[in-house]
Amino acid sequence: MNFQIAILEGDGVGPEIVKEAVLLLQQIGEQYGHSFEFNYGKIGGIALDEVGNPLPEETIDLCKNSDAVLLGAVGGPKWDQEPPNRRPETGLLKIRKELELFANIRPVKVYEPLIETSPLKEDVIKGADFVIVRELTGGIYFGTPRERKVTDNGLEVIDTLVYKESEIERILIEAFELANQRNKKLTSVDKANVLESSRVWREVANRISVQYPEVELQHMLVDNAAMQLIKNPTQFDVIVTENMFGDILSDEASVITGSIGLLPSASLGVGPSLYEPIHGSAPDIAGQNVANPLATLSSVALMLRYSLGLHKEAQDIEEAIDEVLQKGFKTKDIAKQTEPSLTTTEMGEKVRNTLASKKMIVN
Ligand code: IPM
Ligand code: MG
Repeated sequence: MNFQIAILEGDGVGPEIVKEAVLLLQQIGEQYGHSFEFNYGKIGGIALDEVGNPLPEETIDLCKNSDAVLLGAVGGPKWDQEPPNRRPETGLLKIRKELELFANIRPVKVYEPLIETSPLKEDVIKGADFVIVRELTGGIYFGTPRERKVTDNGLEVIDTLVYKESEIERILIEAFELANQRNKKLTSVDKANVLESSRVWREVANRISVQYPEVELQHMLVDNAAMQLIKNPTQFDVIVTENMFGDILSDEASVITGSIGLLPSASLGVGPSLYEPIHGSAPDIAGQNVANPLATLSSVALMLRYSLGLHKEAQDIEEAIDEVLQKGFKTKDIAKQTEPSLTTTEMGEKVRNTLASKKMIVN
């Protein structure tokens, strides 16, 4: 099979980690007989610097005409003073909206060999394995009006949280489907004791749950969910929530695994899907060849599984990552101070070499 992959490296550590992902895909191609064509597009601060727009039209077209999109990360202090429409993050939000990537899937899984890396106790996190399904194209991220007003009583600022019932429905269906394929437990997180949007969210969840009698639906308030994630993360199977709650809870959840450098994500919509690590551009370590590429390599596995239907290949990548960690190889973010660590390129190479040792099963 021949696949067209859009590559958006972005800013900070983006180019370094994406490079390892492209090398991994090339190897998958050679090892399993697929061909990948990589088409590079600009996004974020670099796009702003080079063409004056954090998401040029060209990049949107490129993504729309691809089988899947791989993204590094965007943003950095250099652009912090830019007005909202010129911020790198605006490019990211816009590509999510343009591709209608309403379902952001963020799997959180503890790797046994890294249990000690987490600041949480081993007996609390051991076995934690859940997925956060975050609504990605609605809510307070996109609602209007969004403005500053100078009033007689000083500055007044407005952000608006809007959801259409249809938007709530489609993300919940996605989450019920996923829960149905997993351990059949769905936790819907909201703030229904305060927010009207959350009350509708709950109603919709209850209504859809009738169609999924095998999935156990539980509602949880977001403040409690924040606590439960740290106190007892193994209780969760699939968590579904609105855009901003999902943003916050997924960073929190990464602490369970020991490093945000490990967590991949898939953003699914109506057309091509987008894959990116959940971490940011980490400008403080950019260009030093120390960033952890594993979140991006895991994102490649998700791409193979969800967009390209290459299930064996996806599983082999995940197993290769497991094996590399099992052997004790670590990048700086997951190594103890006294332990040696691998560079970004060395970690990428370890995963590829481990993958190479997997025997291809020809059906
Ligand atoms: C994420 C990031 C983005 C978000 C930022 C960079 C706009 O934090 O993907 O979680 O808030 O969605
Ligand atoms: Mg975030």
